[in-house]
Amino acid sequence: MNTDPTSPAQPFEIFLVAAPGLEPVLCAEASDRGFTNPTMVKGGVTVTGGWPEVWRANLELRGATRVLARVASFRALHLAQLDKRARRVPWAEILRADVPVRVEASCKASRIYHAGAAAQRIERAIAEELGAPIVKAAPKKTGKPADRDAPEEDTRPLEIAVQIKARIDDDLCTISVDSSGESLHKRGHKEAVNKAPMRETLAALFLRQCGYDGREPVPVVDPMCGSGTFVIEAAEIAAGLKPGRSRSFAFEQLATFDPARWQSLRGNTTVTPPQVRFYGSDRDAGAITMSRANAERAGVGAWTDFAHHAISDLTPPEGPPGLVIVNPPYGARIGEGKSLIPLYHAMGQTLKTRFTGWRVGIVTNEAALAKATELPFQEGGVSVSNGGIRVTLYQTDPLS
Ligand SMILES: C[S@@+](CC[C@H](N)C(=O)[O-])C[C@H]1O[C@@H](n2cnc3c(N)ncnc32)[C@H](O)[C@@H]1O
Repeated sequence: MNTDPTSPAQPFEIFLVAAPGLEPVLCAEASDRGFTNPTMVKGGVTVTGGWPEVWRANLELRGATRVLARVASFRALHLAQLDKRARRVPWAEILRADVPVRVEASCKASRIYHAGAAAQRIERAIAEELGAPIVKAAPKKTGKPADRDAPEEDTRPLEIAVQIKARIDDDLCTISVDSSGESLHKRGHKEAVNKAPMRETLAALFLRQCGYDGREPVPVVDPMCGSGTFVIEAAEIAAGLKPGRSRSFAFEQLATFDPARWQSLRGNTTVTPPQVRFYGSDRDAGAITMSRANAERAGVGAWTDFAHHAISDLTPPEGPPGLVIVNPPYGARIGEGKSLIPLYHAMGQTLKTRFTGWRVGIVTNEAALAKATELPFQEGGVSVSNGGIRVTLYQTDPLS
């Protein structure tokens, strides 16, 4: 690993967190966006680069949940060694003394097995070497007396703290800075959400899995659009809008941040008005009002159409066939969705009879519901967690 992770010229490892199961899709996106050496690992993708690449990953990657900058890596066989080596990390070059820090640690297959004690050593190293205030996560109720050596608690809200993640695995301690802050599915322009919104990061990866990368001018239709996530993501992709353009990031609070360079990176966008339109509909009038407002805020209102009607009234828009992608209602637990079988069946019939030449992607949590559509799905969808519920993308070739 790099010895000077604070130098923009020196590449270090950048970990792009992915929804487990979708690592290959994020890896393809990172490769398309020109990141160096994208490599799939469990739970994400690693690339290499300096801090400007960390900023660019946050700004441009649609599928990453967060971006971690791996700033140090060393062996630690016991807590005293962890304490000593954590003090050698050039904290002052990475963190700012005036920005609160929160440390989270995990231990696996290591001689150091107490995550709380490990986090506390790193907190103390940061507090004493740099002087940054430490924000403690709410302590777990153990019934034991408080550790008298622990740094004084800071009561500032956790959201404003920069997060350090220390992972001790097989006696190797890897220290990462969470450069994103809030999860990257929060693009910063969606105020209104319905009951079960699809996370933007997942929606983007599912669109990509369906072969949609915005290069081919094909329309996208979501006939149960809810808050409009698929439609808005697809329109943004086609227009070349960067997903992180409207939000702030934790890396802006780091010592490594260069505002002028960031502004030029962020401003460097060519928006191409798409040659096709993007369509959402829903039987719930509130969902349509919400989708329109969300699309306006995202700056894609001019290329999107939202209509209030049930899926039984769905007809293909004029123009070339494209992609229908939909996340219909599903039961929270397997088996609970039985009452939805007629809805899925009717949806399948509508698509089979009216959408010849279109590809279909359906995201749901029960194979029986997908089967009820009677659509010719390809084999091998992977199951992914969307806000705690495991869902799978079922996709077809162009319908004949
Ligand atoms: C799970 S939500 C979709 C969430 C959406 N992907 C998002 O990100 O916000 C399912 C949607 O299907 C709509 N819906 C249910 N039955 C419908 C029908 N027969 N026709 C059209 N929309 C329907 C609901 O109103 C709801 O908005």
